[in-house]
Amino acid sequence: MARLSTIATWNRNPADEEAMGAVHAPIWRRMADVSVPHDLGSSTVLDYGCNQGGFLRLLYDGHSFQSAVGIDIARESVARAELLKGQRPIEYKVADSAASLGRVFDYAFSHEVLYLLPDLAAHARDIRAALQPGAAYVAAMGCHTDSSVWPRWRKLIAETSSIPLYDHSLEDVSKAFAGAGFSVSVRPLALDAFMPVAIGSAYFPKVVDQLRYYTADKVLFRFIRQP
Ligand SMILES: C[S@@+](CC[C@H](N)C(=O)[O-])C[C@H]1O[C@@H](n2cnc3c(N)ncnc32)[C@H](O)[C@@H]1O
Repeated sequence: MARLSTIATWNRNPADEEAMGAVHAPIWRRMADVSVPHDLGSSTVLDYGCNQGGFLRLLYDGHSFQSAVGIDIARESVARAELLKGQRPIEYKVADSAASLGRVFDYAFSHEVLYLLPDLAAHARDIRAALQPGAAYVAAMGCHTDSSVWPRWRKLIAETSSIPLYDHSLEDVSKAFAGAGFSVSVRPLALDAFMPVAIGSAYFPKVVDQLRYYTADKVLFRFIRQP
């Protein structure tokens, strides 16, 4: 088994890592609301690349599940997630492999992690090993080569990420998961929230870039594990 390689925080600037959750919260809410039934009841949930754990906290508060695990290679972020979880039935762990948890889940999620993984086929096999047959993995992805803002974002994110970025297309992702025994479907995130406009933003030079990103470029894949 390959040795686990960890980092302190994903963003080189810990203050920016801390700020990421507030930006992602409306996106996490949309992911949850379009992907799962209202109450997850007896279901178990995995969040791959959980960072400070905000997605699972938000999911539990709106769709209470039985239990969940969040994994990430960023040690300080995982420690922060453990501190913030309160009484929710969530465990956060430093790990890069879902299969290594030795559990099978009813749902898995990831938000903006696929572009940080060099080998999508290996990731698909890893997630498959951690899901029940028929279970869904919902992966949100705006960082891909088919996005109109990717050439700009690739440079900006590379300056802040403490690990390398990869140029995956939506086809690359689809092929990797189909090849690992998943049925693959996709939809636009189609965010239904007012997002703050930052005039002169390096990420969205024009307001229309932001509108296009959140309605068309950013997608939700749903991979269903075949038997
Ligand atoms: C862009 S951040 C997104 C974090 C979180 N999902 C969110 O929505 O705020 C990407 C996260 O993926 C984590 N990550 C990158 N490669 C990973 C790997 N191989 N295994 C687990 N986590 C990984 C990073 O440490 C970072 O926390």
